[in-house]
Amino acid sequence: MTKSKFIIVAVDGGAAAGKSSTSRALSQRFGLMHVDTGSFYRATTLKLMEVAVSPEDEAAVSDALSKITIGTSISGNTASITVDGRIPNASIRSQAVNEKVSQFAALPKLRTFLLDYQRSQVEVARTNGFSGLIMEGRDIGSVIFPDADLRLYLFADPAKRAQRRAKEGISDSVEKRDQMDSSRKTAPLQCPDGATLLDSSDMTLEEVIEKVSSWIEEIISP
Ligand code: C5P
Repeated sequence: MTKSKFIIVAVDGGAAAGKSSTSRALSQRFGLMHVDTGSFYRATTLKLMEVAVSPEDEAAVSDALSKITIGTSISGNTASITVDGRIPNASIRSQAVNEKVSQFAALPKLRTFLLDYQRSQVEVARTNGFSGLIMEGRDIGSVIFPDADLRLYLFADPAKRAQRRAKEGISDSVEKRDQMDSSRKTAPLQCPDGATLLDSSDMTLEEVIEKVSSWIEEIISP
């Protein structure tokens, strides 16, 4: 039997567009390693906040980043970043981090710091026996893996996304973050040329998962 092709699926979209729930379900269905790059930006933002570095002070950001060691920890299908040997806890999803993360994420220094680390997850997935990698974020299909087998851009109505976050009991300025993420100079949030756009505003999570699964199946068994 021939071994099936190792696949890379890039999932981009705005805040609360359904990227994580969709990616997690697909990772389990297809034996892919799931990587949430938003958690990378959140974890590094939290670390920078802990050492009292401001996003306005780029030299201090650089200096603080040079002292951080990042690694990977795998649990089930999910690969988590470790910062100085620790898996970040729920505080990376706090309101304080929600308010700052887009400012730090706009800094080329932080994006460069995380670039190779994100690409290195392919090797982590291969060596750990996964059938592929599903990585979610804002610039995965445009910058990190422009040659991914599937580049998905998940869109959902901002009002629907705010409702989703409210249901989760999370206070998150979804539109404000999107506005900052879309307007930054480096790696802005955008539907990359040639990516597959899926408007999930009027779809259930199950419908989104089935739709994307059908696209992945076409890649695996054309
Ligand atoms: O996906 P999540 O909402 O957790 O991402 C938090 C923030 O991290 C985003 O609002 C964005 O500023 C930043 N981010 C990014 N590029 C990525 C993933 C996340 O700039 N690939």
